[in-house]
Amino acid sequence: MDKKIAVIRGDGIGPEIVNQAINVLNAIAKKYNYTFTYDDVDMGGVAIDKYGEPLPQKMLDKCIKSDSVLLGAVGGPKWNSMPGELRPEKGLLKLRAGMKVYSNNRPAKIWPQLAQSSPLKADIVNKGIDFIIVRELIGGIYFGTHTTIDENNEKVAIDELKYAEHEIERIGRIGFETAQKRNHKLCSVEKSNVLDSSRLWKSVMHRLSEEYKDVELTDMLVDNCAMQIVKDPSQFDVIVTENMFGDILSDEASMITGSIGMIPSSSLGDSSCGLYEPIHGSAPDIAGKDIANPIGTILSAAMMLKYSFNMSKESDEIEKAVSNVLDKGYRCKDIMSHDDNQELKLVGCSEMGKLIVDEIISK
Ligand code: IPM
Ligand code: MG
Repeated sequence: MDKKIAVIRGDGIGPEIVNQAINVLNAIAKKYNYTFTYDDVDMGGVAIDKYGEPLPQKMLDKCIKSDSVLLGAVGGPKWNSMPGELRPEKGLLKLRAGMKVYSNNRPAKIWPQLAQSSPLKADIVNKGIDFIIVRELIGGIYFGTHTTIDENNEKVAIDELKYAEHEIERIGRIGFETAQKRNHKLCSVEKSNVLDSSRLWKSVMHRLSEEYKDVELTDMLVDNCAMQIVKDPSQFDVIVTENMFGDILSDEASMITGSIGMIPSSSLGDSSCGLYEPIHGSAPDIAGKDIANPIGTILSAAMMLKYSFNMSKESDEIEKAVSNVLDKGYRCKDIMSHDDNQELKLVGCSEMGKLIVDEIISK
C-alpha cells in the first residue's frame, strides 16, 4: 500500500519529534511492505522566514493533495511580535480550515506506567482516567473577525464568537458516534448561562440526542467541567465542546495523565485525509537539545494509521511498542518520576524514538 504523507516539522522541537515519528512509520512500512513517501511542507515561523507568510497557498495545496498530514509544532518567541495575521499560529488555523478538519479528537488516557507522574492524588487516578475530548476545530472565536479599534482615546479589541447550527450539528454527530464506539456517555460542555452560542449549542445537542438513544447525554458548564476534570475524571467518557473550550480543557486533561508530551490528536473532516499532531506546543526553551518527548507525535502517527489508512493492527503495534518501552523503565525528562519498584532510565528524544523502533522491529 502506498501513502503520501505531507510532513510539517515546524518550529522549536517540531523537527526533532517529527523525525522520530517518521522513523517509527518507516519501521512499520518496512515490516509490512508498505511505501510511505513524505512531502515536506513549510509552515509556521520557518515559512514566515522563507516566504513572509505562515502558510503559503502552495504549501496548503500540498497538504490537501496528500493522504494525510503529520505535524510537529509551530511558533516561538522570534515571531511573537508579528501582527496577528502573520503569526505562525495563523498558519495552523489556515491549515485546519483549508483541510476542513472540523473534528479534533484528543484522548486523555492514563498510562499505568505513568500514574505516578500525574499531579492528582493516587485515589483519584486509581479510579481510572480514560476519556476523549472532541473539540470543534474550525469555528467559534478562533475564526470570527478580530479587530482592534480606537474608542474614547483607548484601544478596544473585539473577537467575534459565532456558531451556525450546521457547524454544531456536524461536531455533535461526531461526539455521539464516538460515544457509541465507547461507553455510550456524552458530556456536552458549554457556557449556556452566559453565551448565546452556547445556548444554541445545547439545543442542537439535545435535538441530536433524539437520534442517538443509546447514548446518555449530559450537559456541563465549562467552568464546572474544568473543576470536575481534576475532581473526578473517571466520570467522563466523551466530552464534546466548542473550539476554545476544547483548547483549554484538553491541556488540563492532558496534564492529569502525567504529561502533555504524551498526548496525540487527530483532526478529521468528511474525507479520510486527516491532520495528526501532538497537542503540545513547540517548546522553544528545549528545542535542539534532544530532550523533548517524541511520544505524543509517535502516537499521532499511530492515529493516522488507524483513522486515515485503515491500519488498526499496525497502529496498535505502535501503541504496544510505546507501552513496552515504558514498561522497561525508559522515560523522557517530562515523564521522569520516582518508582519504588523499578529503576527508571532517563533518555533523550532520539533515544526514545530508537527504543520504540527497536521494539517494533523485534516483535
Ligand atoms: C492547540 C494549540 C493551538 C490552538 C495554537 C497553537 C493555535 O494550542 O492545538 O491546542 O489553540 O488550537
Ligand atoms: Mg492548545
